[in-house]
Order: sequence, then C-alpha cells, then structure tokens
Amino acid sequence: MKVGILGGGQLGRMLLQASANYIVETYVLENDKDCPAAHLCHHFVKGDINNFDAVYNFGKNLDALTIEIESVNVDALEKLESEGVKIYPTPNAIRTIKNKIKQKEFYHHNEIPTAHFVITQNLSELNNHLHLIPAVHKIGEGGYDGKGVQVIKEESHISKGFDAPAVLERMVNIKKEIAIIIAMNDKSESAIYPASEMIFDSVLNLLDYQLSPAILPEKILWKAEAIAMKVVKQLKSAGLFAIELFVTDTDEVLVNETAPRVHNSGHHTIEANYCSQYDMLWRIILQYPLGNTKAILPSAIVNILGADGFNGIAKYDGLDETLKMENVFVHLYGKQKTKPGRKMGHVTIISKDYQDLTHKANKIKHTLKVVS
Ligand SMILES: Nc1ncnc2c1ncn2[C@@H]1O[C@H](COP(=O)(O)OP(=O)(O)O)[C@@H](O)[C@H]1O
Ligand SMILES: [Mg+2]
Repeated sequence: MKVGILGGGQLGRMLLQASANYIVETYVLENDKDCPAAHLCHHFVKGDINNFDAVYNFGKNLDALTIEIESVNVDALEKLESEGVKIYPTPNAIRTIKNKIKQKEFYHHNEIPTAHFVITQNLSELNNHLHLIPAVHKIGEGGYDGKGVQVIKEESHISKGFDAPAVLERMVNIKKEIAIIIAMNDKSESAIYPASEMIFDSVLNLLDYQLSPAILPEKILWKAEAIAMKVVKQLKSAGLFAIELFVTDTDEVLVNETAPRVHNSGHHTIEANYCSQYDMLWRIILQYPLGNTKAILPSAIVNILGADGFNGIAKYDGLDETLKMENVFVHLYGKQKTKPGRKMGHVTIISKDYQDLTHKANKIKHTLKVVS
C-alpha cells in the first residue's frame, strides 16, 4: 500500500518509525524539507498542506492518506475521497474538528457535555456576553499550542480577545485535565487507551508533565470513557482520536477538545503500552486487527522544550545523565534549531511506582536542557 501523511512534524516522525514494521510505502507532504519526518519516509514531497492543488496532486496516486495536524486543505481531501482514496479520519470529521466553532456546535448538537459557550464574530460582540466572564476566548481557526486561546478574567480584559470568529466559553474550575485516545477501524471496532492526566506543579513552579494511567475514581473514569467514546462514535469516522476532557471541582466531566489524529498525550504508548498509538493507526490504515491498548507499566512524559534565552542550532545539555537513568527513554525530534518553548523532544519514564515517576520527571526537568 502507498500511504501519505499530511504534515511532517514529530507526530509524523513517530508514525513513520512505527511504519517500518509493516510493508507500506510512505509519503510525506510538508513545506519544510528539513522537518522531523522528512528523512524517515520513502518519498518526501515539498508542498503546502493547506493548498488544494498540493494536497490533491500528492494524494491522487495513493491508496490512503492520514494527517498529523488538522490544519489541512479539506476540499482536496473530499475530492480524493470521492475518487476512492481512503482518508483517516474522514474529511468530514476533520472539517468538524479543525474549526473550534464547528467542533463546539458538534458537541452541543450531540448532547456531549462541554463548557457552556457562545459564538462571537468579532471583538465588540464580547460586550454582549459579559455575564459569561470569567471566560476563555478561543479563535475558530488558526490557533495552535495555546496561541488561539485567551483567558478573559474580567471585563477590562476583553481587548485580549480575538477580533475574528471565535468561541467564548465559560471558565471551568478544573480539578484534573485528562486525555483519552480511542482507535476506530473501518468495521467500527474500537479500542480505548487508559486515560492520561496532566500534572501541574504550581508549588515548585515547574512545567507540567503527564502521568498515565490517570489516578481517578473508577466512576469518573467510566464517565469520561463513555463520553469520549460517544464523541468518536458521533464523528462516524475510522481513525485514531484523542479526546481532551476536564474533570471539574464538582466531578463533572466535560469535553474540552478532540484531535482526530495521533496526539502528544499518547507519546508514552511507545514504551508503556503493548500497542502504541502509532502502531495502532497503521493497523487501522492497513486493515489489520486492532492492538492491545493496555498499559504494561505506569508512565510519565516530560516534554523537552527549548530553554528561555536560546535561539539557534540546538545543543542538548544533560543528555548523557538522562540516558543513564533507568527505564527512561529519550526521543529527540531532529529539529535543527531551538527557540524558547519550541517542542524539541520528549522523555518517557516507566515504573510500577508513581512516586518514582514523579521523582524522575522532576529530575529530568532540571537535568535535560535545550540550549544553543
Ligand atoms: N473553559 C475553560 N476553562 C478553564 N480552562 C480552560 C478552558 N478552556 C481551555 N482551558 C485551558 O486552556 C488550555 C488550552 O485550551 P485548548 O482549548 O485545549 O487549546 P489548545 O488548542 O491550545 O490546546 C487547556 O488545556 C486548559 O488548561
Ligand atoms: Mg488542548
């Protein structure tokens, strides 16, 4: 089979690493010829994933396509789908998700619990919804890595909002942020990964890390799993999906957002679960049986971000020390240049002991630094 990936970032890179176990010819479409995925595929095609002709010409001779980012040209994918190319997830599911307004309307329409919201077309419309404040303003399209989200704590902060179509969402009192990854194949068989939780260490003012499986009462987990499964069923698409949810201070479970692709909350599945999210997506695309989602051991993910004050060719301080640690797995994404906050890699830690995970996560945060 000839399979193409739209986007060449780290998610594409890890997807390609998993593809090496199967008989598949891989293609990547991406503008940057030095992107993390460029050197791991059989065929790299330089082009804009948001351009109709680039996506259509890339896909027309392939058997199947998938994405590693949802900002892609959906019209081209629809045309390819109508001509018989299999797309994971469907163009329709991508269209629903890539716009936060459409995504929230989808939850509302399908009675999927989500934070109360209104839609605003421009900044001045925020004044019609003062009763919703404190709120979070989310741009409809074009936001990524927190850049399309603004917290509006009080009326005087309204000017921080977006002067473009957006969602204004009530601020939720979050007890835990969790994520659940679900696989769905063409026969509508599904497999669900254990939930992961984000840990924010506000006391030590460290950056966050992720723990899996999440530590939550069974009843809340069941609720979260049922809600996540409903999201995927209603999207009516095969593929791999990551559902981000909030557990509120009153133990309500709300969907925050969905990604219709492999997701950063699933990096740990490479070492910590029998079947990784990347392997799972290949099983779906290549029409093989779904894999085992169970955790082999609990795990933590520490993201390796470019350190403040460093711009330029990346160097990794503390790499030897990190690699010496037991049951610690380093993934560098192969990005030549670092800048503050840029995602340069991640480290997965596995251990049967949650305290050991936390201890090592904190140690790695202090040890491994991306400088220039
Ligand atoms: N309604 C909300 N109430 C409180 N915090 C929120 C709300 N919506 C988002 N956030 C916070 O902002 C973060 C980013 O929002 P999200 O919609 O996930 O955007 P992104 O696309 O940048 O991931 C969330 O992970 C959460 O911490
Ligand atoms: Mg998010």
